[in-house]
Amino acid sequence: MEYKLRKAEPRDVPDILRLVKELAKYEEMEHRVKLTEKDLLEDGFGDTPFYHCIIAEIQAENISDDPRVVGFAMYYFTYDPWVGKQLYLEEFFVMDHYRGLGIGSKILQHLSDLALKTRCSGMMFVVAENNEASLQFYKHRGAEDLSQEEGWRLFRFSKNSLIKMATPGEE
Ligand code: ACO
Repeated sequence: MEYKLRKAEPRDVPDILRLVKELAKYEEMEHRVKLTEKDLLEDGFGDTPFYHCIIAEIQAENISDDPRVVGFAMYYFTYDPWVGKQLYLEEFFVMDHYRGLGIGSKILQHLSDLALKTRCSGMMFVVAENNEASLQFYKHRGAEDLSQEEGWRLFRFSKNSLIKMATPGEE
């Protein structure tokens, strides 16, 4: 099957949100997705993009139809004061019907090229503990499990915690 990778554009926002929801559903956390198309548009395509996306699309069987977006990766850059720039892979998803065709590997190839070109020292990501297929997918490609090997734990301050710590009236 012919597919093509390209950078996401503002017109892709509905597909990005659809795939975000499909991945959340796959991880049985669909109810946690609160983001809207408006948020995605503002946050990804304004003056300071907070995320970037690579889109995988397949030409529709009928050539006059628009290509179908079947997968994506959402990423951004972070900074590690020990080793410098890191590419952070936030979301990675290929629709069920299109898995196993090499699309995911091609997206990782593209992101690896980008990480090396921008002189990142690694690519970071978080995987749900019960997502065994995905754990295998990454381990098979040499990813290290830092929770297991180095004992890091993932933390978050919720909005409520932030409000409690913030200057009164700042919320
Ligand atoms: N379905 C799933 N996996 C298959 C299938 C199939 N029908 N057929 C083969 N595979 C195996 C392949 O053998 C290959 O494994 P290997 O190369 O390690 O041996 C791998 O699964 C598929 O390789 P690709 O075709 O290159 O990747 P694909 O296009 O299937 O995309 C991805 C990989 C994104 C992980 C996809 O399987 C997916 O969307 N999974 C569900 C969502 C998910 O878990 N996403 C990652 C969450 S973690 C994060 O976002 C940071």
